[in-house]
This record gives sequence, C-alpha cells and structure tokens, in this order.
Amino acid sequence: MFRPFPKRSRAHRGGPGTQARFPKCRVSWPDAQISGVCRARYAWGIDSPFGRADQFEIGSREGETLSNTAPLLSLKDFRLRFRGQDACTIDRIDLEVARGEVLCVVGESGCGKSVTAMALMGLLPEGAAEIPSGTLSFEGLDYDLTRERLPADLRGGAMAMIFQEPMTSLNPVFRIGDQIAETVLRHRGGTRAEAETRALDMLRRVGLPSPEARLRSYPHQLSGGQRQRVMIAMALANDPKLLIADEPTTALDVTIQAQILELIRDLQHEAGTGTIMITHDLGVVAEIADAVAVMYGGQVVETGPVAQVFDDPQHPYTIGLMESVPRLSGAGGRLTTIDGAVPAIEAMPEGCRFRTRCAFAAPACAARPALRDVGSGHATACHFAPLEAHLRVAG
Ligand SMILES: Nc1ncnc2c1ncn2[C@@H]1O[C@H](COP(=O)(O)OP(=O)(O)OP(=O)(O)O)[C@@H](O)[C@H]1O
Ligand code: SF4
Ligand SMILES: [Mg+2]
Repeated sequence: MFRPFPKRSRAHRGGPGTQARFPKCRVSWPDAQISGVCRARYAWGIDSPFGRADQFEIGSREGETLSNTAPLLSLKDFRLRFRGQDACTIDRIDLEVARGEVLCVVGESGCGKSVTAMALMGLLPEGAAEIPSGTLSFEGLDYDLTRERLPADLRGGAMAMIFQEPMTSLNPVFRIGDQIAETVLRHRGGTRAEAETRALDMLRRVGLPSPEARLRSYPHQLSGGQRQRVMIAMALANDPKLLIADEPTTALDVTIQAQILELIRDLQHEAGTGTIMITHDLGVVAEIADAVAVMYGGQVVETGPVAQVFDDPQHPYTIGLMESVPRLSGAGGRLTTIDGAVPAIEAMPEGCRFRTRCAFAAPACAARPALRDVGSGHATACHFAPLEAHLRVAG
C-alpha cells in the first residue's frame, strides 16, 4: 500500500513524560548546543531541526521487525588502497546486515560510501585498487577479499545494486525492456516471454507511467528520475537477498521517493531482503533504517540501532551532521556547519581522521580511537565517548 508519509503513533508525539525518557546531558558544540532532550526531539519528530522532521518518525515499523540475528552479510576488517596511494581510502571497516534489516550508511561526499559498496559487489575496475585485508561472509559462505572477488553469479541475482548514476549504468543502445528481461533470464531462467512479463511487472511496481510503452524506450528517452526507477526495477527483478542502494532516491521527487522506500520496505517484509542504503538524507534514514553506520574518511566512526544513534549521537562528527540539517521552523539564524571538508587521502591526518575538523580535538586524538561499545549495540570511535562524561558539559 502506498503511504506518502507514515502515520505518527501517539508514542512518538512527545507530550508529558517524553523528556523523562531521555538524558538531559548537554555537550557544547561551537555556535550551537546539543542536548539529550534536543536529540530526543529530532529522533521523535518534536521541534526537530530536520527540514521535514514533523513528517517522519523513527520506529514506524514498531512491532514489525523481521530481522533475525543471523547476519546475511558480514564484512570484516576491510581495507582498500587505490593504486599509487600510500594510505588506505577505506581503512578497517566492519559492516553487518541481517536478513530483513535495513542498514543506512551516511557521511559526507568523499567518505568512501560508494567505493565500499562497489568493492563489496566486486565492481571496481580490475587493478584499480588493492585490498590489504578484508573478509566477506554472505549467506554463510566466506570470501577472502584479498584474493578473490564475489562470484559473478551473485551479482544482479542474490546481491543486487542500485547505482548512484543511472545514466552510466544503463546500456544506451538497448531498450529498457530488453535490459531488464536479460537480467531475469540470466539469473532466473525461464522463457523470453516470462522474462518480459516480469520486466513489465517490475516497471509497474516502481511506478513508471505507461510501462508497456516504456519497455520499448531507450535510456536517453527517459528522464533522470525515470531512469533511476528502471535501475531499481532491474535490481529488484530477481528478488535479491541483499540490496545495495547507493542514493537510490536522490534524483526523485518526494512522492516517488516515498513509493520507492515503500517498495524496499515491502521487499524487506515479504522476502526478508537485507538492505544497505547509502544516503545523505537523514529523513530517509529515520524513515527506513533499522541500523545506521556513519562513515568519515573511509572509516565507520559511529554505528548502532538508528534510534540510539539519533537519540544520543556519541561522535562529534555525527553531532555535526545532525546539526547541519536545515530546519523549517524554529529560531532561525545561521545554519551550523562542520568547518572544512573531508581531506584528500594524501592529506588525511594520522590518528583520528576527523581531528583536523573536530572542535574537541586533543593531543590524545593523534592515536586512532577504536570503535567501542557505548551500550545496546551502539558503538563510536572517539576517545572521549561517552561525550557527556568527558567534554565540557553545560546547563
Ligand atoms: N578509481 C579511483 N581512484 C582513486 N580514488 C578514487 C577512485 N574512486 C574513488 N576514489 C576516491 O575515493 C574516495 C571515496 O569516494 P566515494 O565515491 O566512495 O565517495 P562517497 O562517499 O560515495 O561520496 P558521494 O556522497 O559524493 O557519492 C574519494 O576521495 C574519491 O576521490
Ligand atoms: S577522537 Fe578526538 S578528534 Fe576524534 S572525534 Fe573524538 S574528540 Fe574529535
Ligand atoms: Mg557515492
């Protein structure tokens, strides 16, 4: 069923007792203060700093969680270095997705989100990068990424990807219908007619107008958003066990975006599909994620169940990301930003990679902080976590 935005349950509207559920700690951030109550508010849609905050909530699938504990995919100690570079662009990351779980990966441009996804799928060009360490387990089978790529049979079948740039991912000289049918024939077999029926069905499911006519279109005859929906149809055509979606809704308007999120959620529920969703949109994260991994400089700096991370972010970078989201209502004034940009890999500092931009950096930050648990599966890579205990506390 298509729902433009989820209904908000009473438990998520705040009111008496809401604040009592959250800590009242206050950690100062330059030009802005972030408090436990404030964090609780944006997590629960009360007076939120997010632009569309009052239209989303965390936990809209309360009581419907399908994930089980067996990881569908597990990536361990993954490092990747591009040829000709000394430092690793991706530096010791671990990711885990269970069946029926949506893991959202967030972070600024250049943090390594797409490179990680492409490497997972074995899609980086041959010889472009070396992988000094990393093991991938998928459906109980282990792959040593330093020596082998994911078997080609899995790509587009059990493990599918929606790419960030649809125009470069579709073949310009083949009709849309043929491209989708080809992937169905390759992975599911059957007759050409069955594959074409499946292609038509998928175009309907992603909401493409006039799907019968679109089957005969070439990619250049579609708009950017329509091409993105074709990519999504192709990725979902073989009922993947794992879907990697790299900013799948960025080019789409909000109503189509909501339909696509609903489609991904349906898959999650009907087929137990695990999803890794890469996005810049914290509204999408709140809407769809079970868990979130925040990346900075090729490392995972904070991870955990989405409610915990949004309610009580424990890494200065995550706090900065949350404070950078524009708000439509409230006091107004200047938007808080994180100074500077992600450094190029050659200029990446030793120790904590965020320290050239972190307001709380101290001499101890010259050593790399380990990702450590701060409770309930919530982990952060900051020497000063939990922040309330170490940093200047106001109020
Ligand atoms: N083939 C390549 N050779 C060298 N460096 C590369 C290559 N591909 C990507 N990079 C570098 O890897 C880093 C991570 O890039 P990536 O595309 O993963 O960023 P991202 O987090 O997906 O950003 P965005 O949000 O803009 O899509 C960037 O610094 C990029 O320049
Ligand atoms: S380890 Fe230091 S530099 Fe890194 S995020 Fe924590 S306080 Fe900032
Ligand atoms: Mg990217």
